[in-house]
Amino acid sequence: MATMALSPAVSPAAGSANSLASALLVRYRAARAATSHCCAPLSAEDQMVQSCAEASPTKWHQAHTSWFFETFVLTPFLPGYRPFHPDFHWLFNSYYKSLGNEIPEKKLRASFSRPSLDQILAFRAHVDHHVDQLLQGQDVPEDALRRIVLGIQHEQQHLELLLTDIKHAFFTNPLHPVYRENASLPTRLPQPAQWVEFEGGLQQIGYPLDAADPLDFSFDNETPRHTVYLQPYALENRTVTCAEYLDFMNDNGYQRAELWLSEGWDTVESERWDAPLYWQRSPAEASGWRIFTLGGWRPLSDMLHTPVCHVSLFEADAFARWRGCRLPTEAEWEYAAASSPTDNGILLEDDALHPTASTSRDLTQMLGGCWEWTSSAYTGYPGYAPLPGALGEYNGKFMSSQIILRGGSALTPASHIRAAYRNFFSPATRWQISGIRLARTFA
Ligand code: AVJ
Ligand code: FE
Repeated sequence: MATMALSPAVSPAAGSANSLASALLVRYRAARAATSHCCAPLSAEDQMVQSCAEASPTKWHQAHTSWFFETFVLTPFLPGYRPFHPDFHWLFNSYYKSLGNEIPEKKLRASFSRPSLDQILAFRAHVDHHVDQLLQGQDVPEDALRRIVLGIQHEQQHLELLLTDIKHAFFTNPLHPVYRENASLPTRLPQPAQWVEFEGGLQQIGYPLDAADPLDFSFDNETPRHTVYLQPYALENRTVTCAEYLDFMNDNGYQRAELWLSEGWDTVESERWDAPLYWQRSPAEASGWRIFTLGGWRPLSDMLHTPVCHVSLFEADAFARWRGCRLPTEAEWEYAAASSPTDNGILLEDDALHPTASTSRDLTQMLGGCWEWTSSAYTGYPGYAPLPGALGEYNGKFMSSQIILRGGSALTPASHIRAAYRNFFSPATRWQISGIRLARTFA
């Protein structure tokens, strides 16, 4: 489905280091341009806001992704490279302890009125110019190619974060600005819910990385590929809709402790949750609710057939229990996604900026739409080894108290998502586009 200029076709990696480098340059430019394209509607003031602890200002995202290329690619691999600014190496470090010099109040990123947006855009241009130079040079080291591939995936992760963060920023703004006036949200009926069954047995999950191809990629946490045993199971062909979720709410789902995990119930009480994030009571609407999107407020009645999103793991789990089902494990999810023919759901290039009603009769749309909570804790696969050096801090050190989500969302670039992809957040997280796919075991 992805058609826009955000992800131009790239010929399969083959041949000399030079042809790999030029293929990579096309991808690099596309990834950087996608970020710029999504920042274009935002003013310098918009780009300074940090409206919750999980979020970062747009400006910080733009600088931090450039910092990543400067730190991990240009400084080590481009002879004679001079960093853009002597303070940026610590100012835009996110969490790499082995690089030292972190700023102590790093979560107060909204206080970054300086450096100015213009300076950060100049930093981006500086980094782009030098990555260009590196990739157009002779004999680019394979390690540099691999790190640029990683840097592109990092850029794409931050593009999704930047959009979810600005959505939150605009929601907290009393004027509730619209990010994109014409974000298209076709109203159509979803396919009827139905179960798709899997025999299970001994199966393989994890990314089948081609170590010989420097442009082949997965994050370190998606490997090694390994064998899992799956009991026979079934998944629903599509994710849960707002209409279905409203039934749960109307059946007092948020008031019935017996439906909730203990930590979830505590959170419902302390946060006074009674609906997904971005749902607001609106007596003017027939349904009684309106939902904030990147296209502004929309009545729930227009959204009933779209996937419910911005729910925590706790809400996903309580909903599943209310329906007499459960959430899938990540292995069940991946095996189903990897063995289904793909006709992706809504991804960033579709430009809807919100999941739309599923048209999938079977399991062909497991990628896109909304991230799907699994019941699996985020841990290393058997034999997992983090990347060597500071890059080993990218994923491995977060393997505690977080839950796996799968599948990508309407804000994920198409070239970023795959069946083996493991996203992770703590279970109370709601500001990502996270939804629910039901699973069950059959005897
Ligand atoms: C995989 C989305 C949880 O938000 O920290 C960005 C992505 N890693 N920079 C995060 C990430 C390093 C990561 N998540
Ligand atoms: Fe990062």
